[in-house]
Amino acid sequence: MTVVVRTVEALRSWRAALPTDERVAFVPTMGFLHEGHLSLLREARRRGGHVVLSIFVNPTQFGPGEDYDRYPRDEDGDLAKARDCGVALAFCPHAPEELYPSRDTWVNVEQLDRHLCGRSRPGHFRGVCTVVCKLLALVRPDVTLLGEKDFQQLAIVRRMHEDLFLPGEIVGMPIVREADGLALSSRNAYLDGTTRAQALAIPRLLDRIAAAFAAGERDVATLCAGAAEALAPGRLDYLEIVDERSLTPLTRIDGPARAAIAAFFGRVRLIDNRMLVP
Ligand code: PAJ
Repeated sequence: MTVVVRTVEALRSWRAALPTDERVAFVPTMGFLHEGHLSLLREARRRGGHVVLSIFVNPTQFGPGEDYDRYPRDEDGDLAKARDCGVALAFCPHAPEELYPSRDTWVNVEQLDRHLCGRSRPGHFRGVCTVVCKLLALVRPDVTLLGEKDFQQLAIVRRMHEDLFLPGEIVGMPIVREADGLALSSRNAYLDGTTRAQALAIPRLLDRIAAAFAAGERDVATLCAGAAEALAPGRLDYLEIVDERSLTPLTRIDGPARAAIAAFFGRVRLIDNRMLVP
């Protein structure tokens, strides 16, 4: 049975009542759960203890003109999936004010947000870090599971977690894809048949880069050449190959790296990435 709580107070009471030797695994989400989210919940379950899921479309990580108002929501469907995955507690705040009694306090991780999505979405990672920090303070998990789909988010949350001595351990999980290669995302719900087919250009481009890399190419300009054309009529936001740890853009690959991409198909912005290990 999944307990659903809607207030910080109820979440705190539930947490305080747990015996100190019982483990908690935490999966933060914005809901509209798909197999990517479920892979995190299953791994949380596999690790034993209580699985806590949060479902909160966090307003502070959306910029003006982004999709906060139309972000897909299906709480009943999400809670049914949560039950099937053995979630002990789902935290679904009834209103943003529950997590933001004021908007005076923010968590900012500098440097790692200078590239990739941090550059295209100013303030986005400030919103992510602030909400994840609040959630970790409330849930006090032994382990928190995040997906590599949001590779920059994972790197930034790891840095925040380390620098602020936040509880537990952060675990990154592999990207779950559709059979044809498209990375699962709640935002895929915005795609129609045509844009869905066009969006396959993203995993194909990453495949092409990975194949050239496996064949020995190390020059980033050569690896990324022709990307905008390969994505058309989709519009490239960025394609960068960055150092796996510092996220700084590379011109030549000679250590662990990531090819990371963001592109628009119609109004829908999708992201994906691929690890490149020499
Ligand atoms: P959301 O986009 O709902 O994603 C929740 C978690 O699921 C994130 O850790 C994300 O990386 C992971 N995830 C999404 N798609 C995935 C896929 N195809 N394969 C594997 N994991 C996947 O990310 C957020 O929410 C928010 O920014 C949040 C961290 C909850 C803060 O608001």
